[in-house]
Amino acid sequence: MSSTDQAQLQNPLQPQTPSFAMLRTLGGIAMLAGFLVVMVFQWTKPIIEENKRIAIEKAIFKVVPGAASRKNFVLSAAGLFPAETPDAQGETIYAAYDANGELQGVALEAAATGYQDVIRILYGYSPACQCVTGIKVLKMAETPGLGYKIAFDPAFLENFVALDGKLNNDKSGLENNIVAVKHGNKSQPWQVDSISGATISSKAIARMINDSGQRMFPLIAKHLSEMQGGRE
Ligand SMILES: Cc1cc2nc3c(=O)[nH]c(=O)nc-3n(C[C@H](O)[C@H](O)[C@H](O)COP(=O)(O)O)c2cc1C
Repeated sequence: MSSTDQAQLQNPLQPQTPSFAMLRTLGGIAMLAGFLVVMVFQWTKPIIEENKRIAIEKAIFKVVPGAASRKNFVLSAAGLFPAETPDAQGETIYAAYDANGELQGVALEAAATGYQDVIRILYGYSPACQCVTGIKVLKMAETPGLGYKIAFDPAFLENFVALDGKLNNDKSGLENNIVAVKHGNKSQPWQVDSISGATISSKAIARMINDSGQRMFPLIAKHLSEMQGGRE
């Protein structure tokens, strides 16, 4: 005989919790919790979007030296469209202009999986020198003291001051893949000198710029005059 049965025999008048009331209470709590989660999500979404916009805005002027203003476009094989064009499909890119309104460069977003999680960056590209002009890490979860250095290590960031992103002869992609090499082994302008002890994070940065560049630099070249005339 179970202990519950024994307790029932000893005190037959002991009240039982009806299962319907229990289910109703639990269901109510679950519904309330779900409702609160949705409410918090809806409430924080515009705040998160706004913070992301501000972070990108600041980063554009860092990765494109000399930039004083910018205009957002959406770019894909279908064409170049001002970002406000309804239903425009493609990647958002940020054309950056100097104080005289001359196109200084383009800032692009790129992402790849690092050691822990996805790393997301904004990087600058100069169509004039066909080179990467700077990077800013927007999001990462790399290990402090190791992968984290991709955002702050001056020697690593030096890689991206004039990283070669030349187009091939038919302008369909890069002449050379942008690749990370072991620390101290960089011998070509399209190579990224990795951080010692953080080769995985370093490779992720090179890979994401290469993938983005192979896709986007030919499109930027194709629509360069529209972008030059696109300043506000
Ligand atoms: C706890 C722990 C955290 C690590 N975090 C990173 C990291 O954030 N980024 C990274 O590239 N490597 C990280 N590593 C090191 C990698 O496992 C690997 O050893 C390293 O990327 C290889 O770089 P190396 O060839 O320069 O030694 C971590 C290793 C350990 C044990």
